[in-house]
Amino acid sequence: MNKRPLILDCDPGIDDAIALFAAFQSPEFDLIAITTVAGNVGIEHTTRNALQLCEVAGVDVPVARGASQPLFRQAVFADHVHGKTGLRTLVLPAPTKQALPNAVEVIRQAILDHPHELEILAVGPLTNIAQVFLLDPTLPKLVKSITIMGGGHQHGNMTPAGEFNIVVDPEAARIVFEAGVPLHMVGLDVTMAEGLFPSEIDQYFSVSNLQTTTIHHILKDMVYAEGKQFKEAAYIHDAMALLYMLDPSILQGDWYHVDLETKSSISYGKTVVDYYHVTKKPKNVWVALGLDAAKYKANLKERLHRYQK
Ligand code: RIB
Ligand code: CA
Repeated sequence: MNKRPLILDCDPGIDDAIALFAAFQSPEFDLIAITTVAGNVGIEHTTRNALQLCEVAGVDVPVARGASQPLFRQAVFADHVHGKTGLRTLVLPAPTKQALPNAVEVIRQAILDHPHELEILAVGPLTNIAQVFLLDPTLPKLVKSITIMGGGHQHGNMTPAGEFNIVVDPEAARIVFEAGVPLHMVGLDVTMAEGLFPSEIDQYFSVSNLQTTTIHHILKDMVYAEGKQFKEAAYIHDAMALLYMLDPSILQGDWYHVDLETKSSISYGKTVVDYYHVTKKPKNVWVALGLDAAKYKANLKERLHRYQK
């Protein structure tokens, strides 16, 4: 089986952590590197968390440190959801490895090493990806696809209009959305449609080891992390984007023109989906609108149960 070369750009982050654990059990991918970006918490924490999670999983994947700030805006964080460190109450041993210093260079090199084959999964603010495309505008045409957890057609979670990853750096999102790379947007319409319920989490694993107890801890800690205005569940946004890359049938959607609001003080960071194609502009983004919740949960469990070997 030809492995799919992949860059996983993230801001761990409790749901990023679950996506990473699932990615480490996905031999379909040749995971070239994990690149980190400031988002849920600052770059020091997201990078440290990525290093620590690799060690919990026992994988040796390069981790490269990325942007500490959005392109133009002041950084905003989601430590109210992810806790001060980004992993809420989970305490892990200090990492024994160092991160590479430059995510942009790592991503650029991965594109050049795998022309027309590299896939990018971005589950944090899109600052790193935008910087790569700003650095060398010839690179986007060499990227096979970009799948993001971010945005959405209807609701926002950072503002009423905007989803966190986009709101943090809407200018970066605009650059990435307009770069011409086939882009798949796994947004809140599907990631908030279904979470893991406490009863499911309690019976999730039947084997106890470092990985399963760590994942279980994170899942339990995620319930209510998003706030009591949501159903009592763990909303594992980022893992859904990864699982979609592995089995697109978990989501239903279609191609639409999507623009980015970057000016409005009320709705900046909104991904504006041209649902009725009124602009007649190119349908640049595949937008996820429906979730097969049973299949998503079954696929996630199948991946994470691979740690029960
Ligand atoms: O809005 C949810 C997204 O923002 C997830 O990627 C979460 O990790 C945060 O980055
Ligand atoms: Ca994330």
